[in-house]
Amino acid sequence: MKMLVTGGAGFIGANFVRRTLATRTDYDITVLDKLTYAGNLNNLSGLNINFVHGDITDRVLVDSLLKEHEIVVHFAAESHNDNSLHDPSPFIHSNLVGTYTLLESVRAHGNRFHHISTDEVFGDLALDDPNRFTETTPYNPSSPYSATKAGSDHLVRAWIRSFNIAATISNCSNNYGPYQHIEKFIPRQITNILTHRPAKLYGTGEQVRDWIHVDDHNDAVLLILDKGTIGETYIIGADNDHINNKQVIEMICELMGEGHYEHVADRPGHDMRYAMDSTKIRRELGWTPQFTNTADRMREGLSATIDWYRSNVDWWKDAKADVEKHYEAQGQ
Ligand code: NAD
Ligand code: DAU
Repeated sequence: MKMLVTGGAGFIGANFVRRTLATRTDYDITVLDKLTYAGNLNNLSGLNINFVHGDITDRVLVDSLLKEHEIVVHFAAESHNDNSLHDPSPFIHSNLVGTYTLLESVRAHGNRFHHISTDEVFGDLALDDPNRFTETTPYNPSSPYSATKAGSDHLVRAWIRSFNIAATISNCSNNYGPYQHIEKFIPRQITNILTHRPAKLYGTGEQVRDWIHVDDHNDAVLLILDKGTIGETYIIGADNDHINNKQVIEMICELMGEGHYEHVADRPGHDMRYAMDSTKIRRELGWTPQFTNTADRMREGLSATIDWYRSNVDWWKDAKADVEKHYEAQGQ
């Protein structure tokens, strides 16, 4: 089976390629990636794959690749909320125009298409709201990033309905694990502590994210490719929606033997709480996350992630000063 993975040099995409090669023998993988600041070819080192350096908005390139591949798994995106607040334009380019370009090519070549999306398309829940997002929750995105992801989901749904493309969508919650860019919450705190900087909590840290280990996310995607129903959307979440940012940062500090962290300027328009109801994928496809439900399992996943950043200093050390300079300019 020939599979094209867009954004496969980024955090979740690279873990997806690794997970696929480790668990399946029937996939021949090509990665298409623009290698933005978030993409890193080293994430794929040692793997037996084909790599194509290019932009998903390049229709000629996309057509030439889709002709040759049966399956497309679409991870490529601008992914960081904070960046989208400063310059939304790359988000419009990659997330909207990029997804549109892929969809038009899928329409022409008849590929099986899986679109990777996020819980943020649903907006946020109040802290005391007991509800969780489901596949039928109305869209209500808050940031330029989440608005472009919502737009890309709508494009996929329209191409399914209007043009009968063979597509599925998954909306997953916040991932953590190896190879995550150090601009993101968990690796930023780990690498702050490793470089003797204080960990940095936005505002009061009451916000809740439904953390999921990246391997659990990617196993769910593989299951959707194997057994998912064409045209359907699947919510992916591991029931970690009871741990707030303050508790996560305190867990990281405790695991790393660090007693101190700082409160810094809050994110404008900061979403309060995400919570996922993944009943559908569990019932219909039999998916079960490995790192779930209890603070103990989250602690295990975090502990392994801390070990990874500790053992792979060369992977992140060159980017650290620039990332922190950028945050410092924002009071964060
Ligand atoms: P990331 O920023 O680490 O990686 C994105 C990758 O896409 C990079 O390798 C980058 O070079 C590539 N890319 C960006 N624009 C491109 C373009 N125009 N053409 C080709 N390649 C391009 O992101 P991530 O955290 O791995 O997220 C991957 C996908 O998963 C995104 O679609 C994101 O919205 C979604 N998602 C992320 C999370 C999360 O917690 N990180 C949760 C749910 C869904
Ligand atoms: O929910 C899924 C989304 O999760 C994905 O769609 C996005 O691509 C991904 O980046 C992530 O978005 P968040 O904005 O939730 O993740 P981030 O890691 O940026 O922040 C997580 C929480 O931690 C959020 O409430 C902001 C807070 N935070 C973040 C940073 C970088 C801090 O308190 N301190 C920090 O230094």
